[in-house]
Amino acid sequence: MGVIVNQVFGHELRRLRTQQGVSLKALSEMTHYSKGYLSRVETGARAATPELAARCDDVLGAGGALRARLAELRVVIEPRVNDPRFADLPLGRAGEPPDHGRPAQLPMAEPDFVGRLEALRELDRLPAPHRVTVCAISGMAGTGKTALAVHWAHRARAHFPDGSLFAELAGPDGTVLAPSQVLAAFLGALRPAAPLPATLAERAALFRTLLDGRRMLVVLDHAVSAEQVRPLLPAAPGCLVLVTSRQRLTGLTAAHQLPLSTLTPAEAGELAGTVIGPARTELEPYAVRELVECCGLLPLAVRLAATQLAARPSWLISSLTERLRQDGELLLRLGGGALPNAFRPDYQGLSRSAADAFRRIAPLPGPLLSAAQAAEVLGRGGAEAEAALEELVDASLLETPAPGLYRCHPLLRAYARTLTQRLECGLLAAESRYELAAPALPVAL
Ligand SMILES: Nc1ncnc2c1ncn2[C@@H]1O[C@H](COP(=O)(O)OP(=O)(O)OP(=O)(O)O)[C@@H](O)[C@H]1O
Ligand SMILES: [Mg+2]
Repeated sequence: MGVIVNQVFGHELRRLRTQQGVSLKALSEMTHYSKGYLSRVETGARAATPELAARCDDVLGAGGALRARLAELRVVIEPRVNDPRFADLPLGRAGEPPDHGRPAQLPMAEPDFVGRLEALRELDRLPAPHRVTVCAISGMAGTGKTALAVHWAHRARAHFPDGSLFAELAGPDGTVLAPSQVLAAFLGALRPAAPLPATLAERAALFRTLLDGRRMLVVLDHAVSAEQVRPLLPAAPGCLVLVTSRQRLTGLTAAHQLPLSTLTPAEAGELAGTVIGPARTELEPYAVRELVECCGLLPLAVRLAATQLAARPSWLISSLTERLRQDGELLLRLGGGALPNAFRPDYQGLSRSAADAFRRIAPLPGPLLSAAQAAEVLGRGGAEAEAALEELVDASLLETPAPGLYRCHPLLRAYARTLTQRLECGLLAAESRYELAAPALPVAL
């Protein structure tokens, strides 16, 4: 196998192994390959065999990704690397005429992606050659839906030889794209310069026609409803659609539902460590644990806090955690108010009744709330209160660990408190589900 292919595979094997905290010695013991051989495979000095890739897949829980990657590298890259005609051309686009019919629209994967092994395994089981697969990843703002979808999409590329389409169905400010706009972009990528049909139905039909007989991955990021997604679904067996949404898209009845929760403490600590740097996190392991706890294990919050520390190299990690403990709203001010900016469209999309329930219920003390307690606090009948609570669950503003029981993420509680404060200051209209004004929160610590 070409040296470059060996190096690419070796690099990916090492990244997966270290990501999972497995030493070379442990990998050697688990796979029964010698440590020296594995080390040479990782540096690219030796070629990996499919058997070695499969063994490493098993022990690292990679769900066949390494083996698929090795096969992909051999099929796609090796012939080009070994062909003198392609010698001067960059890998990946070697000598091919630009083929706009094979889109590759995935954005860059997070280089420091951590954990999520169970979700990745679940996704690995999805591709099926004889049917279209739709998977809806749901979860609260900032929980890592897009990061997971893009990370998995990159590692599953070998399953989709006809390429990938990616569209953001709603902007961070809540602007929503109509399905016909998304189809226009997809059709443009598949058939550049061809005329665009006028109606949504015609565009959707042409999209399905163009994907017929192809195995393509379609990532629909930040969907707001099942209705928005439905016209964007291909019908060709072998295609896979990954949808991310803060909403539970229960209307997509045939979809595999993958609800995504926050990170585990170990994963969140690893994420903080990659951003802050090992020199500091190894000095203060307890402070890292406290830091990620203050962030409620929410990846977006962990990244914000860790980025703040990375930008302040002289600070102790514990000095930030202390301030976070003292000031429950400090995290909401970090990164120019990235957290409230992420939460706001979800709150604003609620019915008046659910928005009112959110402001009043979310800040209540205690880990769990029952529907009956909520009804009492809200002064509403049981059924009415439960309908509001379920709307909050569908919008990922509440979780329901069991029927009739609810809990709220600590950062959403803090956000709800700020809404109430602003309501009391007259900055939020009580009767409207929309905020009247969104004054910039002070960014300074
Ligand atoms: N597993 C992970 N490893 C490393 N970083 C992660 C991981 N998950 C999420 N992040 C980081 O956390 C932040 C939020 O993640 P992401 O944007 O994927 O969340 P989201 O659920 O898609 O949020 P939204 O609902 O706002 O679209 C990003 O900065 C991302 O890089
Ligand atoms: Mg996202």
